[in-house]
Amino acid sequence: MCGIIGAASSRNVGKLLVQGLHKMEYRGYDSAGIALHQKDNIFNLRTLGKVSLLEDEMIEQRPKSKLGIAHTRWATHGKPSKKNAHPHASGEVNIVHNGIIENYLELKEKLIQAGYTFESETDSEVIAHLLHQHLQSKGDLLAAMHEAIKELDGAFAIAAIHIKDKNRLVVARNKSPLLIGVGLEENFAASDPLALSQLTNEFVFLEDGDIAEITKESYQVFDRKNSPISREVTEIDIAVNAVTKGEYSHFMEKEIYEQPNAVANTIDGKLGDNDVLDNIFGLGSSEVFSKIKRIQFVACGTSLHAGKVGRFWFEQIAQIPCYVDFASEYRYRDPLVEEGTLFVTISQSGETADTLAALRYAQEKDYLSTLSICNVPTSSLARESEHVLFTNAGPEIGVASTKAFTTQLAGLMLLAMSIAKSLNKDQQNRKKLVHELRNLPKVIEETLKLSNEIMNIVPNIADKHNALFLGRGMFFPIVQEGALKLKEISYIHAEAYPAGELKHGPLALVDDQIPVVALSPENTLTEKLVSNLEEVKARGGTLYVFGGENAKIKIERGEYIQMPECSELLAPIIYTIPLQILAYQVACQRGTDLDQPRNLAKSVTVE
Ligand code: M6R
Repeated sequence: MCGIIGAASSRNVGKLLVQGLHKMEYRGYDSAGIALHQKDNIFNLRTLGKVSLLEDEMIEQRPKSKLGIAHTRWATHGKPSKKNAHPHASGEVNIVHNGIIENYLELKEKLIQAGYTFESETDSEVIAHLLHQHLQSKGDLLAAMHEAIKELDGAFAIAAIHIKDKNRLVVARNKSPLLIGVGLEENFAASDPLALSQLTNEFVFLEDGDIAEITKESYQVFDRKNSPISREVTEIDIAVNAVTKGEYSHFMEKEIYEQPNAVANTIDGKLGDNDVLDNIFGLGSSEVFSKIKRIQFVACGTSLHAGKVGRFWFEQIAQIPCYVDFASEYRYRDPLVEEGTLFVTISQSGETADTLAALRYAQEKDYLSTLSICNVPTSSLARESEHVLFTNAGPEIGVASTKAFTTQLAGLMLLAMSIAKSLNKDQQNRKKLVHELRNLPKVIEETLKLSNEIMNIVPNIADKHNALFLGRGMFFPIVQEGALKLKEISYIHAEAYPAGELKHGPLALVDDQIPVVALSPENTLTEKLVSNLEEVKARGGTLYVFGGENAKIKIERGEYIQMPECSELLAPIIYTIPLQILAYQVACQRGTDLDQPRNLAKSVTVE
């Protein structure tokens, strides 16, 4: 998965394209490249590493052009290298691609037989050669694109330029996000509106099978059948300060500290005096909820952890059974769909390929309805689900998800309450929860103040190679999330276990070299958890415990950090915060590139 951008303008586009790439580095940042139409050639520049390296080269070379395409890459086929970076060229055509061409080996074979030579190990290069091949018979880039995409299986967002077209950019989309940005005397294409946030606030979202030609004066979209089609223009204002770090050292740090506001925005306008309001998941949603018998959650990574917490809430508050699946596994196990099951996807980006594919699979099954909890209103997931709740967290740029997670949890709590309301269940608890939800931003703020205390334990973790995370009940998914945070940004191997499982194997790992981080809130499982922690102590383990006011465990090796008082049901949201801070501070100490950790990308738009 990668970010692509294109521009046709009456001004120089090089700088605009590079600025756009910077904003899409969350989609991949192992290499970058640009192709610019010039008088009688196409300037092609590719660099290994982040967009800033491409920018340095551009500043040195200062190419001028009014038409161009650019790319930031996350390697799928072929290692990160200059020759695998995009744009790929074939004769007089240059292309950039986001997605995966599943039949590329077969196409590559045919193209080699037709005399084409491949310079890269990528699947994308076949697109350049295919376009070139069809240009020989069609003589026009748009017509060649129509022919080429008929041969492609898989996911793609493509932008192409041709030496004979000094004013025109051609783009195509199938299962990878792509939109047109409508400007004044200039038009653009990009994988994400964020990339164009300083250029326009008018966007046309392309659909699967669409092709478009874009010039500085106009654009035209064609559907699968090659008929001109008009697609709606959507206005989106993206706050520019939402995509800068401001006073913070990293986006992740900023996003951690934005959580009180982000959660307040998620619940804003959704709660009445004593209950959740009707239809907050869209018109008619309360009526649909009254027919629910089961819930199926599907998501990836951090969003999956949110679903796992949600499961406890739904079974407790709405009293309906829930299943939670990895999106990447769900559709491959032929799931049995019970009558009255609501299919729920959870995603920050709304573009995660596995989650989107699961939704599309579910649409073919007998689910009662589909619903998504998503942070990006313009995303494919939000547009394709029947009901949606936007988390309103604002753009999340750091690869490690923080505010997206806590706002997803707030959204899931609203969903559990809404379903309970439609099913006439648990009214007293809902009334209490309304007040606790309103107070939640304040408690998050209190929790953020633990930062200095957490700093004290950082040196004891930052020099280790492994860590264990323990929790029980709804805090098990929270420690899974804590372990994920630590490993993805600090590269320390971290494993999470439900504390009761320790004695079934992982206890063998415990010695004085492995920090054991545990969550011990006050609830019905506290005593049980404490017994599990005693087992760690007895083996000389070092414990870092976050817990309630009345510490039930005496720690000789390690630390007990007292958490602010909070609602029992909302405590998973609060207990997430210290684990985020811990991972962030450990990563800072280890000096990793924590907003863009190695091998990862923010939005995973490939399977
Ligand atoms: O955009 P999504 O929420 O669908 O992304 C799913 C995962 O890729 C994501 O949550 C990932 O696990 C986080 N970046 C981890 O911090």
